[in-house]
Amino acid sequence: MKILVTGGAGFIGSAFVRMLVTQTGHRVVNLDKLTYAGNLENLTSVESSDRYRFVEGDICDARLVEALVAEEQPDAFVHFAAESHVDRSILSPEPVVKTNVFGTFTLLEAARKFKTPRFVHVSTDEVYGSLEAPREATEDYPLNASSPYSASKAGSDLLARSYFVTYKMPVLITRASNNYGPYQFPEKLIPLMIANALDGKRLPVYGDGLQVRDWLYVDDHCRGILAVLDQGRAGEIYNIGGNRSLPNLEVVKKVLALTGRPESLIESVTDRPGHDRRYALSSEKLTRETGWRPEMDFETGLARTIAWYQANSQWVERVCSGAYRDYYQRNYGHRTALR
Ligand code: NAD
Ligand code: DAU
Repeated sequence: MKILVTGGAGFIGSAFVRMLVTQTGHRVVNLDKLTYAGNLENLTSVESSDRYRFVEGDICDARLVEALVAEEQPDAFVHFAAESHVDRSILSPEPVVKTNVFGTFTLLEAARKFKTPRFVHVSTDEVYGSLEAPREATEDYPLNASSPYSASKAGSDLLARSYFVTYKMPVLITRASNNYGPYQFPEKLIPLMIANALDGKRLPVYGDGLQVRDWLYVDDHCRGILAVLDQGRAGEIYNIGGNRSLPNLEVVKKVLALTGRPESLIESVTDRPGHDRRYALSSEKLTRETGWRPEMDFETGLARTIAWYQANSQWVERVCSGAYRDYYQRNYGHRTALR
């Protein structure tokens, strides 16, 4: 197949592109705007492959998207491109709504016009909102988004599904839990805590740190998306979870233990507005229909991730340059220590 991947220079998209090029015979066209989160360094291992092409561009640019789809005639879209960070969506919602909603619309329109045989829309468990324990969201659970990010993803999910219902387009939606692994931009919990710990800086934990997330190793996520692409039923939604729910504070303490840094670096700070307390989802449908299940156990995956950040300190230094420091100041500068 020829697969048009959007957002393939980001964290999960680049892992998916590397997987496609090195472990399958598929051809890949990667459309990415190279925002602060897009980094071609993530793709140096595949850039010289004759089954890989990179195109710099915005998914909101209908002319560019149409021309690319007309030229390449892909067999499938796998759509990762998004503004993916909740805290940034709270600080500046506009680019989030533009890319996540309007960008998805632009791609759906191009796929409709050129009758692309498959469209996988990559979404998130955040669309289900916060769940009381021990409840787990199945794919028919109501949407209950809290942040501009999760609301924009819920909007894009509904739009994607409407193209299946209305135009009979072969759209499939995946909803994954919190990913971690190499190449993740250090604005998200795990890479931020690793980078700060390695640097001897304070580790800012929002509120009481008892919020629960389900951790999924990025390669397990990519295998799940590939299973949906190959075997999923058109019009269906598939949850992809890591089956490892942990309170944030426990995750942060594990990072400190594995990096050999003291727990005194932890600083409880002002909470995230609208902070969802607990995400939890069931991936039973994907396992039943495709045999997929998460393989990486959290402690091994975390140790591997920390080792990658230790070995790639120059990558970290480059992405944590001026713009990152500005963001850090905007997001953390006003937060006060809670104790
Ligand atoms: P990321 O922020 O690391 O990467 C996003 C990529 O999209 C970047 O390469 C960026 O340059 C590109 N991009 C952004 N706006 C664009 C635009 N307008 N046009 C073209 N490219 C654009 O994100 P990620 O963490 O890899 O997430 C990828 C997808 O997976 C997102 O759709 C996200 O909602 C979803 N998801 C993420 C997680 C997670 O834990 N990170 C979990 C579940 C689902
Ligand atoms: O659940 C899937 C989602 O996971 C994805 O859709 C999003 O793209 C991804 O960013 C992630 O969203 P979260 O908000 O859960 O991830 P984040 O890493 O930002 O935060 C994880 C938890 O850690 C959350 O409860 C907030 C908390 N946190 C985060 C940061 C960055 C802190 O306590 N301190 C921090 O500095």
